[in-house]
Formats: sequence, C-alpha cells, structure tokens
Amino acid sequence: MAALARRSCLQFLLHLAQDNLDFRLPEIKSLLALLGKSFSPTLNFQEKAPFWCLDGLSEDDIKHVMARSVCAKSAFELWGHGKTHSELKTSLLNYPAENMSPFMQKDSTYRINVYTFNKTLEFSERIKRIDDMEYLPFEGTVNLKNPQHVFCLLEDYGTDPNNIPEHPDHVYFGRWIADGQRELIRSHSVKSRHFIGNTSMDAGLSFIMANHAKVKRNDVVFDPFVGTGSLLVACSQFGAYVCGTDIDYNIIHGRGRSSRKNQKWRGPDENIRANLRQYGTERLYLDIMVSDASKAVWRKAPLFDVIITDPPYGIRESTRRTGSHKDAYKPWDSAFAESHVPVSQAYHLSDIFKDLLNLSAHHLVLGGRLVYWLPIYRPDYSEEIVPLHPCLQLLSNCEQVLSSHTSRRLITMEKIKEPEEMDNQAHQLDSRFSPYEGHNAFREKYFSGVNKRCIKEDSQAEVNGQ
Ligand SMILES: C[S@@+](CC[C@H](N)C(=O)[O-])C[C@H]1O[C@@H](n2cnc3c(N)ncnc32)[C@H](O)[C@@H]1O
Repeated sequence: MAALARRSCLQFLLHLAQDNLDFRLPEIKSLLALLGKSFSPTLNFQEKAPFWCLDGLSEDDIKHVMARSVCAKSAFELWGHGKTHSELKTSLLNYPAENMSPFMQKDSTYRINVYTFNKTLEFSERIKRIDDMEYLPFEGTVNLKNPQHVFCLLEDYGTDPNNIPEHPDHVYFGRWIADGQRELIRSHSVKSRHFIGNTSMDAGLSFIMANHAKVKRNDVVFDPFVGTGSLLVACSQFGAYVCGTDIDYNIIHGRGRSSRKNQKWRGPDENIRANLRQYGTERLYLDIMVSDASKAVWRKAPLFDVIITDPPYGIRESTRRTGSHKDAYKPWDSAFAESHVPVSQAYHLSDIFKDLLNLSAHHLVLGGRLVYWLPIYRPDYSEEIVPLHPCLQLLSNCEQVLSSHTSRRLITMEKIKEPEEMDNQAHQLDSRFSPYEGHNAFREKYFSGVNKRCIKEDSQAEVNGQ
C-alpha cells in the first residue's frame, strides 16, 4: 500500500474506437465532469487520433470513466512513449522507479501484449517486440493465462489505411487499467431486443447519448418522443429511473404491426417495460404515457434530471401533433389548461425543437441536461441554425453523417438558469427531487417503493387474467 501511495505524476493513455469520432470528446468530458474532474490532455493532443494522453487523473478516475465509456476501448497507465522504439526506451528508462516497482515484484505475475493500430504484425514480429523490451526490470514471472498485471506495447501507424508507414508514427508502453463498455453495443443490440420499431435507436448511440447527458444513478430521465424506449433502456442501465411519452397509442401499448421480418403483429408483451425487464432494469421503470409533446402536460416544476430524445424527422415516422388548423397560438401557461382536441395537424420541425427547448427550460433541474438529435440538410447547415434558449447552454454539437446531403447532430445542452416566469414556490416544493447527492437516498427509497407496488399489482393482474 505504502509503495502505491508514493507513486506520483501519473499519466493515462486512452485507446479510442475509430467510429463516431465526433462523439468521443464530449463523452469523455461528460464522464469526467460526473467525477468533478476536467479533461486535460497532454501536449500534441489530436481529437481524431486513436490514442489520447491525459493528465491530472487518478487510477480510480480512469476506472470510473471506463466503467461507462462506449467510445473508449481500453485505458493504460502510461509508462513511456516516443516517436521511435529508441525514444520509447529512453522515456521508459526515465520513468520513476517508484511508479513501476509495485508491479514488477519477484512474487508477481505478468504478461505483455502487443497492439498495433492500422497494421497487422506477424506473430514472430510481436514476439521480437517483447524480447526487445528486456531492458525493463521485470522480476516477476510470465503468466499468459491469468496474470496479476497486464502491460501493453501499442504502436500507432496513423489513420490512413491506404498509406501505412513502415515504422509506427508513435509507440506507447503502459500498464493496462480497464476496458471500456463496447460490449454493451452487442449485448443491447436492437437485433435481439424484445420490442423494436422502425426507428429504434442503435444501442451504441443510445449509450453515448446517456453519457453525454451525464445520466447517473437515481436520476429521473424523461424522453418526450419515447418510441420503443431505446434511450430509456440505456439510461436505466446506468441506474436512472425512466419515463416517457409518445403520441402513438400503438407504440405505447405495444399494439399494431410488428417491425420484425416474418412477424405481422406485435406480440402480447411487446412494450418498453418488457425491454427494461430483458436487461434487468424493470425496477427503474416509472411510466410511459400517450401524450403530445407539443402540449404542456406537466405541472410547473423541475421534474427531470435529464431529457433525452430522438424527435421525429418526418422521414420514417410522421411529425404530427394534436390540434386543428384553426388553433391560434397559445402561450405555454394557458396551453396547460387547454382541452384535448383529437385531430392532428402537421408538427413543423422548427416547432418541435422550440417546444423541446421550452420543455427542458421549464422541467429540467438546474444543471440538468437535454440531449437530442437535430436533423440537418448539410448544404444549408451553419451553426446559427442550432436552436438556442437563454436558460440552456450549448455544450456540444456532434455530427453523424447519414448521406452526402443529410446528417443529424447530437446536441447537448445544460440548464443554467430558471425561466423568469417560473413560480419559485413550485421549486421549493420539488427540491426533494434535485440531483444533488444528499437527495438520492430519498429518491431511491421513494421510487423503489412505488415500483415494488406496481410490479406486485401487475403480477396480481396477470394472475387474475386481466
Ligand atoms: C424517431 S422516433 C423515436 C424512436 C425512439 N428513440 C426509439 O428508440 O424507438 C420519434 C417518435 O416520436 C413520436 N412522435 C411524433 N410526433 C409526436 C408528438 N407530437 N408528441 C409525442 N411523440 C411524437 C413518434 O410516434 C415516434 O415514436
């Protein structure tokens, strides 16, 4: 223990997946922000590179980030690096002995891996690379199957697969700390999801959104365009209580035509709750209801820690809202008292986003985040078209290209102040639901009680054949 405490000036190396490049930096920054830490890369930081070196963090910080990240593949404690193997050797020989020695003791076991980015090495070349590192003072025993410590030599051959250099651009050596959560992409794939629709969000992107949103245990997360609940599945995986609304009665009640090949109608238990059950997070299901996102149905209060959503773009699902064409403009407050008009009209994209930002400004807690997709016609795009709101600060804006002319942008905003007209009393009443740690215990107790009761009532209803 004492030896570990003496270790100082640690740097960490992240190995990132080379897909969703735009989403990586906001993901890692958000995960660090959850720990109250800032992102401080070392010099030569290149956002699109597969390796990033980070300063100012502890091994625990890195483990927390890797327990959530789907953009990062692995993390290492960086012991040395250089443009060539000879520079790496100099760097390693200068690395403080007290930082290395706890992992090189006589009674320890270890293994060295060789990883190359953008090049494949023959087995014999890999072995030679390891043999060439004999200058490292390892005293332990090699154990390939179950070592106590894993080390890695990483070689970076650039990002151009058509122009692979003979020698690496950069080499790194470090102690493996943790792998990221790439496995979630497979385990939560919509291909094996119980309930899906035509626009179910891809698992990887859903988890990235939850990370950009800084979703944490006991948060209350709301999706106003919930569809089949893919975003709620991801948020509940990170311990948040989830709820949502959708205008489509069939999707909320799991009725109508199935989106699966070879299946005409949805089965009896195809719904969002069953999706959460599939992944063991049913206890975090609050509720889902049929509701039009253009209408103000919530009582005035900061009810949600996170609003996360994929609004309709009008391509694979229509953008409709309730109301008739004769509807005059109704201010936010009076719309609350409005009676339901079961006629639908077009819901223009600009209105969808205006309503979404208003909803977030009114119903997010201070510091809460809104994360949503904005569809873009690329030739017309400029930053000015991203909707803004005086109560919401734009934190990140990442593009996912869909075709040469279209893309969607993942927008992350944070609530920085309350709308002026908001009733202060309502805030005080709902301060029990604030995101600060002290209130989490209350919330956990509150919702687990509610959920246990619901699950019991549902099982009773099943027994009664209702
Ligand atoms: C892109 S889909 C959401 C997909 C969802 N993220 C999923 O994983 O299944 C958009 C959803 O918005 C719903 N929608 C369209 N207009 C709406 C409105 N005015 N209010 C609420 N929901 C609406 C559609 O029924 C559709 O389910």
